[in-house]
Amino acid sequence: MKDISLQIDYTVYHGLEELPAADRELAEAAIQAQQTSYAPYSKFHVGAAIRMAGGTIVKGSNQENAASPSGLCAERTALFAASAAYPGVAMEAIAITGGYGHDSAPRPCTPCGACRQVMAEYQMLSGRPMEVLLVGKEEIWKFKQVDDILPFIFDSLET
Ligand code: THU
Repeated sequence: MKDISLQIDYTVYHGLEELPAADRELAEAAIQAQQTSYAPYSKFHVGAAIRMAGGTIVKGSNQENAASPSGLCAERTALFAASAAYPGVAMEAIAITGGYGHDSAPRPCTPCGACRQVMAEYQMLSGRPMEVLLVGKEEIWKFKQVDDILPFIFDSLET
C-alpha cells in the first residue's frame, strides 16, 4: 500500500498586459467571442478561442436552446468548429473566459468536465500539449497542458 499525491503547477497573471503577446492575442479573442454568446436562459456568457498550429485562431461561444440539453458550451463549440474547419491541424492553446453580462468574472471560469474530456482528445490527436488559459478580470491562470486540469484522462479502454 502506498499513498500518492499529485501536484499541479500553473502560472497566475494579473491582467492581460502581463501575458506574452501570443497569449494576450488569444485571451482577447476569447473575450471577443464571449460577445457572441447566446445564453438567454442562464445569462452566463462564455467565450473560447483556439490557436491552431500556424497561428489561425478559431472562436466559439456558448449557445443555449429552449430544449436545454441541446445547447453547447463555448469550449466545445470552438473545439468542434476548429476540428471541422482544420482537420488534422494541431491545437496549440485554448483561452476561455466567462461571466454574467458579457464580461469576464473576476476569477477565471473553469471548464466543465465534458469540455475537458473533449480538449483531452484533441490534445492527444495533436500529439503535443494544448495550453489552457483561463481568463478572469483580476486573474489569468495558465496551464501547460490539459492533463493539469484533467488528471487521469480517459483515452482508451486498452492498457
Ligand atoms: N458553459 C460553458 O460554455 N462552458 C463551461 O465550461 C461551463 C458552462 C455554459 C453552458 C451554459 O450555456 C452556461 O455556461 C451556464 O452553465
